Amino acid sequence: MNAIFRKIVVIAFLFIFVPLFASTLWGFPPAAKPRISVLATGGTIAGAAPVATQTIGYQAAVLPVGEVLASVPDLGRIADIHGEQVVQIASENMNPDIWMRIARRCEDLLSRDNADGIVITQGTDTLEETAYFLNLTLKSRKPVVLVGAMRPATALSADGSLNLYNAVATAASPLTRGQGVLVVMNDTVNAAREVTKTSTFSVETFRSPDLGALGYIKSGRVHLYRGPSRRHTTDTPFYLKNIEKLPKIEILYGYAGSGTAAVEAAVKAGVAGIVYAATGNGSLPEAAKAALAAASKKGVFVVRSSRTGSGMVARNGEVNDDALGFIAADNLNPQKARILLMLALTATQDAKVIQQYFDTY
Ligand code: SIN
Repeated sequence: MNAIFRKIVVIAFLFIFVPLFASTLWGFPPAAKPRISVLATGGTIAGAAPVATQTIGYQAAVLPVGEVLASVPDLGRIADIHGEQVVQIASENMNPDIWMRIARRCEDLLSRDNADGIVITQGTDTLEETAYFLNLTLKSRKPVVLVGAMRPATALSADGSLNLYNAVATAASPLTRGQGVLVVMNDTVNAAREVTKTSTFSVETFRSPDLGALGYIKSGRVHLYRGPSRRHTTDTPFYLKNIEKLPKIEILYGYAGSGTAAVEAAVKAGVAGIVYAATGNGSLPEAAKAALAAASKKGVFVVRSSRTGSGMVARNGEVNDDALGFIAADNLNPQKARILLMLALTATQDAKVIQQYFDTY
């Protein structure tokens, strides 16, 4: 009995008192929970409907951040949470000015020693765009995770609570430092550059069609199998401090018989660039090609992307980009090609350098 008691005292001494003495003596703080800021912007994760079975026609962006956080009390077990309402919108109303506001707030929080990571709640419709914008501009290795929901918070089997819990677990995990901005939905971690919304209604809507997910979250534990494919955050030449206003870039859509009208209208409206969501591997009907070539001659930057949803647009493949001064989007979808072109134009006006950016970021 005595021997067992002695053993218990020795174990308690080693595992409880020694670490406590050490922390006091050498100034180590006792192990603390990661400090995660949740920046709320609205969307379906903050949406509500009058009845639990209603999953369309509900009102997005009505619940304040405090209510969204309070609905997941388990968050307090894995992190110290600080919630902030940045905007309260449905994400179709997201725009470059709001990206800049969010990015500046992130930069401020990430620069503090007492912040370990950020979760941004947003509507899913344009979530991938905010994620890619932040992926290219934030200068920190601390985790930044975007999350949303496909069903309003009032729905039967609403997905927002678990998505939020998983997003906080991901932002709190040491594994996600230096992995760029991440998107967490439906138990899955995706890279901002690679992920896209693929379904109008399914909870399994966010996918990375060319490259697949980075990993999963199960029972609050993050499992990563690979890193993001391209450079990001601290490894890009895009700095918020250099950006006053982002240039105006339009996305135009290619189809059988597409002509010159849309291109000419965009040029007349004074755009700095056009991303053409072309058919197949960026192929262009002769009329659209001629209009885009004329636009390029006038100094409008033209990027060929694809409307197909996956695969790369190869430079000088379907079109002689060298001759026409065009840029090939690689495997960036049109909405992300627009963001990279916007940011590229804050750093250079040289189409060859912009092509290198598309090959790198
Ligand atoms: C939105 O994007 O704000 C509405 C749709 C959603 O969050 O899923």
